[in-house]
Amino acid sequence: MNTMNAAIIGAGFMGPTHTEALRRIGVHVRGILGVDPTESKKAAATLAIPQAYQDWQEVLDDPDVQVIHITTPNRLHYQMAKQGLQAGKHILCEKPLAMNARESGELVELAQKSGLVTGLNYNMRFYPLVMEARHKVSSGQTGEIHAIVGSYVQDWLLFPTDYNWRVLAQEGGATRAISDIGTHWLDMVQYITACKVTAVCADLKIVHPVRKRPKGEVETFSGKVQEVQATENVEITTEDCGTVLLRFDNGAKGHLWVSQVTAGRKNCLRFEISGAKQALYWNSETPNEMWIGSREKANDLLLKDPGLLSDTGRSAANYPGGHNEGYPDSFKQCFKAFYDYIAAGDLEAPRSFASFADGHHEILLCDAIYQSHTQGGWVEVEPS
Ligand SMILES: NC(=O)c1ccc[n+]([C@@H]2O[C@H](COP(=O)([O-])OP(=O)(O)OC[C@H]3O[C@@H](n4cnc5c(N)ncnc54)[C@H](O)[C@@H]3O)[C@@H](O)[C@H]2O)c1
Repeated sequence: MNTMNAAIIGAGFMGPTHTEALRRIGVHVRGILGVDPTESKKAAATLAIPQAYQDWQEVLDDPDVQVIHITTPNRLHYQMAKQGLQAGKHILCEKPLAMNARESGELVELAQKSGLVTGLNYNMRFYPLVMEARHKVSSGQTGEIHAIVGSYVQDWLLFPTDYNWRVLAQEGGATRAISDIGTHWLDMVQYITACKVTAVCADLKIVHPVRKRPKGEVETFSGKVQEVQATENVEITTEDCGTVLLRFDNGAKGHLWVSQVTAGRKNCLRFEISGAKQALYWNSETPNEMWIGSREKANDLLLKDPGLLSDTGRSAANYPGGHNEGYPDSFKQCFKAFYDYIAAGDLEAPRSFASFADGHHEILLCDAIYQSHTQGGWVEVEPS
């Protein structure tokens, strides 16, 4: 039985998603903070959370909260993670960790000194078959990796009338499609293969240099059923899509295609990893099957069935074969790993969830990708 209490900061798409996942693993959600007391109150009532915080200081001062989940827009992550650690709280932060490498580097140092557990919600690692892919590579079944390719594509920002805080550099960061979804892919393939990206060559594109901003706030993804309302033009400097060539530290080559403007692709992350013995292909829109390619025998289609998985894959699968596990389950598994880690009390133990150091590496990657795009050519990723 988990005895820790969590506070959720942010009440948009992610706040309720975190709340639901925490309840599934028996963590008590003590309170929630929105952008103002009205949003806090509304979210607390809707989600049946006991405490609607008035402001951020009240969260920091709450002696009954041990863990803070940061689910606010990106520009707030650094300050909130820093102040949360200073107040003695464990921190589970949404990605990306910060707006730039100076901030994320400082957070890594603070986290190390704090003696607290910190994690970043790269939840997509926790699909059972992603874990299984990691097992196949680490156990040598896939062989030496020579290529890692794939994409992460969505369509929710296809039209110039689609708008969200993410499209503004001052809210989300200098890169958008790369930082918002590309980093999920980059985190995932590096987690599976243990190969680190060392250099990038990027070519990004802004499809809509001007977007129509509704007068009033827009929640993530709610824009899919948009009502016509008054808008104003806003200039956009963040990319809608783009390609990145990749070099990995073991000599493997790769490429990533990201897009938030590909019609019909709702939320589609795909990877194909080629090794000396086999290849692995997985698609987040059919997450309960993984294709395993062979040269000398028929290919396999592995279904997510705990009975067919290794201990690693099985650790993230809670339902029998044929009972699909998907996006919300990946949060549950990520948070379970995080809270079990706190309970175990060993900060030196390896962690399956992404650390602040992993988050810092992702920011350095975003910086290198942006630099490559603006200056042209290959850019080495700064060591983290
Ligand atoms: N891991 C994932 O799969 C995933 C998916 C979506 C978003 N995210 C990340 O989660 C974060 C939030 O994204 P979202 O899609 O939920 O955004 P959102 O706009 O839907 O929600 C953000 C919430 O934060 C609130 N907020 C703003 N300023 C605040 C403040 N000062 N104090 C408290 N609350 C404040 C807003 O009112 C809103 O309720 C982003 O960093 C994003 O990158 C991760």
